[in-house]
Amino acid sequence: MIFSGSSNKELAESVARYLNLAVSSLEITVFPDGERRIRVIDDVLEKDTFVIQPTATPGDQNYMELFLIVDALRRSGARSVTGIVPYLGYQRQDHVFRSGEAVSLEVISETLERVGLSKIVCLDLHSVKIPEVFSIPVLHLSALPLFAQKIREIMETLEGKTILVTPDMGGIRRIKQLSEMLDNMPYAIIEKDRDLETGSIRDASIDREVKDRTAFIVDDMISTGKTIIAAAKLLKENGVNKIYVFATHGVLSKEAPEILESELIEKVYLTDSVYVPEEKKFPKLEIISIADTIANAISS
Ligand code: R5P
Repeated sequence: MIFSGSSNKELAESVARYLNLAVSSLEITVFPDGERRIRVIDDVLEKDTFVIQPTATPGDQNYMELFLIVDALRRSGARSVTGIVPYLGYQRQDHVFRSGEAVSLEVISETLERVGLSKIVCLDLHSVKIPEVFSIPVLHLSALPLFAQKIREIMETLEGKTILVTPDMGGIRRIKQLSEMLDNMPYAIIEKDRDLETGSIRDASIDREVKDRTAFIVDDMISTGKTIIAAAKLLKENGVNKIYVFATHGVLSKEAPEILESELIEKVYLTDSVYVPEEKKFPKLEIISIADTIANAISS
């Protein structure tokens, strides 16, 4: 049985359609003070249940809702509860960067396990080490095969050489995997220096010649868009002709949509792991659905 929290009902509907199922009913009541009450309506006794709830903005609210849905399913007798959390909020705080900080991801993993989650399915996690934080099984899916397919389509319309680019060192593994999927397309790595206090990017450099190539920048997520724009500027300064951007999670905080509509960029491809409301959509944006990737994971 497939259930959905409030964060991405469209994705839940698409996944259910692939599986020839309907999304099962949940009663989600919001009290005047913002607290939520969750009630399972359908009979879940001895059933394997799946809850689709990416935990992007508002992350705290979406997590709380997920905790309560898992608890309600457990109390209603579900045999198993698998969390389909394609975007895992708080994943970037996976260790102590500066003394005195909380390790937010551990708090999240411990709470999910405590409320009764059996397994979690995530998409393009920020770091491959994140599954180690969980004691329950983690299935780590990727949108890279979909990106490879789209890049091949774009390449049919292009002339000249191409290059894959990771806008930071954390994406090296990702870019190598994508390069292998694309017959070893060359890749370049941008090194950026971030201010740990403010999060702003101080300096960036690129590790190889990119002149006269079309660049495909690939990242796990876009929040403010500053990483992508810093990368695009650097690539243009180094003689790249066209730039296409691919990111799995469109968190799109603050002015990201305006920033990404930049003349430096041809198109921005995001998946539907995070729901993008109409007001955040921009002309250069194209959304690639990961519903079939998730549906295949559920059925297998
Ligand atoms: C950082 O390490 C991530 O891979 C992304 O590059 C980053 O989170 C994007 O954030 P923003 O869009 O705010 O620059």
